[in-house]
Amino acid sequence: MSLYQHLKRNGPSGFGYGSTAEQVTEGLSLSGKTILVTGCNSGLGREALRVLGLRGARMVGTARTLEKAREACAALKDAVPLACELSDPATVRACVAEVKRAGLRLDALVCNAGIMALPKLEQAHGIELQLFTNHVGHFLLVTGLLDQLAEDGRVVVLSSGAHFMAPKEGVQLDNLSGERGYRAWTAYGQSKFANLLFAKELARRLAGTRRTANAIHPGVIRTNLGRHMNPVARVVFGLTEPLVLKSVAQGAATEVYVAVHPAVAGVSGAYFADCNVARCRPDAEDPALAAGLWKATEEIVARLPAR
Ligand SMILES: NC(=O)c1ccc[n+]([C@@H]2O[C@H](COP(=O)([O-])OP(=O)(O)OC[C@H]3O[C@@H](n4cnc5c(N)ncnc54)[C@H](OP(=O)(O)O)[C@@H]3O)[C@@H](O)[C@H]2O)c1
Repeated sequence: MSLYQHLKRNGPSGFGYGSTAEQVTEGLSLSGKTILVTGCNSGLGREALRVLGLRGARMVGTARTLEKAREACAALKDAVPLACELSDPATVRACVAEVKRAGLRLDALVCNAGIMALPKLEQAHGIELQLFTNHVGHFLLVTGLLDQLAEDGRVVVLSSGAHFMAPKEGVQLDNLSGERGYRAWTAYGQSKFANLLFAKELARRLAGTRRTANAIHPGVIRTNLGRHMNPVARVVFGLTEPLVLKSVAQGAATEVYVAVHPAVAGVSGAYFADCNVARCRPDAEDPALAAGLWKATEEIVARLPAR
């Protein structure tokens, strides 16, 4: 329990900074529900998979490889492991096809997987790799699975408070490759800004239905996400743990809460932090920006190899 947790009160939802994924789902039966979580083998995704499974949901756990997904799903009673390497469109499409073939109706789709702050510019299909993995890969997955989403299905997209570090344009549509300038944290912030715009635009497109889309910030938690940080920064980050960092159990709470809690039914287009609606960067509310990114992402997807 961090020092900061003692200073933070719970919000209007009754939950807050210190709530864990188990606490926000206490008393809920998810029996009969099917929930897909990407990046299920590590950190917050692994905890979300465990807790949602514990409450009785049939889990679809995706990871970069089938072996990783199988290993993570092995402890659950009812879980379907699938490979979904988000930077490889062929495996994302294969994952979509497998969910369809198995006739899985998804009550929630949690876009949890992500990478952070790659020190040097890397690309997939000509697009900066964090933007591709965190945003384009999930775009391909979610849009591919919309027909599988239950009538009241929920899409939950892991954004981050780091979206405040995105460039002033939010997403630099004229520099999606990263070749006209690359900074590790700005690029991560941009990818998380894109996650936020995607959730908001999806919510607009789902308006008039009972399906919802929301974005979340999980808090700051020491996980494998920090693997690309330089060793000194990692040590400093570790030292702050007792003061400000959340545990993994606390970090998974917001995504789990937004995916299944009855109080969130019908809430769409919002940004959550600490299991409550929170304020995002004001320009992330701009529908024109979100529509522009959606169009640009469709164009990227259209250029990807068919197989
Ligand atoms: N931890 C934090 O403080 C924090 C703060 C704000 C937002 N977030 C967000 O929370 C989410 C979960 O992060 P975490 O902290 O749990 O990190 P983590 O422990 O590193 O887990 C990330 C997961 O994403 C997977 N992944 C990475 N690249 C992938 C790819 N190309 N295709 C498919 N899966 C891929 C990883 O697989 P491998 O294990 O195989 O690499 C892993 O399962 C991320 O979206 C992150 O941006 C985290």
